[in-house]
Amino acid sequence: MSYDVAAVRACFPALRAGAAHFDGPGGSQVPESVAAAVAATMTAPMANRGRTTEAERNADDVVLAARQAVADLVAGDPGGVVFGRSMTQLTYDLSRVLAAGWGPGDEVVVTRLDHDANVRPWVQAAQARGATVRWAGFDPATGELAPEAVGELLSDRTRLVAVTGASNLIGTRPDVAAISDLAHDAGALTYVDGVHLTAHAAVDVATLGADLYACSPYKFLGPHLGCVVASPGLLETLRPDKLLPSTDAVPERFELGTLSYELLAGTTAAVDFLAGLGGPEGARRPRLEAGMAALEEHEDRLRERIEVGVRALPGVTVRSRARTRTPTLLLTFEGRDAADAYRFLAARGVNAPAGSFYAIEASRHLGLGDTGGLRVGLAPYSDDTDVDRLLAGLGEWLDT
Ligand SMILES: Cc1ncc(COP(=O)(O)O)c(C=O)c1O
Repeated sequence: MSYDVAAVRACFPALRAGAAHFDGPGGSQVPESVAAAVAATMTAPMANRGRTTEAERNADDVVLAARQAVADLVAGDPGGVVFGRSMTQLTYDLSRVLAAGWGPGDEVVVTRLDHDANVRPWVQAAQARGATVRWAGFDPATGELAPEAVGELLSDRTRLVAVTGASNLIGTRPDVAAISDLAHDAGALTYVDGVHLTAHAAVDVATLGADLYACSPYKFLGPHLGCVVASPGLLETLRPDKLLPSTDAVPERFELGTLSYELLAGTTAAVDFLAGLGGPEGARRPRLEAGMAALEEHEDRLRERIEVGVRALPGVTVRSRARTRTPTLLLTFEGRDAADAYRFLAARGVNAPAGSFYAIEASRHLGLGDTGGLRVGLAPYSDDTDVDRLLAGLGEWLDT
């Protein structure tokens, strides 16, 4: 199906400020409908969740709708959608709960491709329990994380494999399904960081083999919060610390305190916006699949344009090389500092930040220390004019 980027752009009030946004991997711009849903929730009668008053029902309905929306987004079970402040917070919480049963001799596998939010919580949880951490490296030349690099670390003592669905630094999309198969054969759980992936592809948690799948709505056009999707059956087996009067039901057991109803309404609106890319009518999941496929095609075409364009510029290296990847490129410059390019472009209204973006292990593994490079990320509202501005700006900077 075709992708009408002009119609998409018209829905984003922030774009009227005029910048070309290549900073989506850090957090996307937000459609009007998302902001409107947040505002509507804040001005409607609201109370704590319940079914007695209208205000209670409104709060309850918002929560249930958001669980269903996220479940549709990743083909999960709404009864296993846990919300929290951020992916980082939820991963720390879950790492402590999951690690409660670990001890000396147990092992956890993390990768050097991952954002630190899917590394450090597991490393620290393992340390606290006397368990062993095994590190899977990726090939710095190709950016590929081979399933075998994880497979060779597994044993019958492996309790969990933490792996990214896609790298927020270089875009690599590892074969998570193959990694999950290996992990499951060894009797381990998989914790998949879908924060970067969810913004760029139709996700099916069962196909990925993700026992726990984490994502963050603010990366896919929604508000700032995080969610983890798992099967309710798995969540039932876990016992987080909780207040005595708070419910023991799943998934609420993991949601400490009162949820942000307004942000949940915004999350539902963001999922509906993505579904709208696949057509105005019909069940949400098939529209999401069609819409994300159309988006992927659009973003891949622009990514290729950028790659061809930067190849013509002197001294620019594209660090993103994996066969399967998101439209997120990391650029480095011979003898030049990426942070200079970032500032130069920013002064021209082109937002492409430099850094390692908390993917610190990946940046070091690429030989870029903690400095990283210039990250150029595409989003649903990116268009050819943005790409023209980026390439012209980089060309000008390289001439200085
Ligand atoms: C791949 C990836 N994982 C995890 C995170 C952390 O997400 P949050 O800000 O929701 O904690 C980010 C944020 O940049 C990310 O890009």
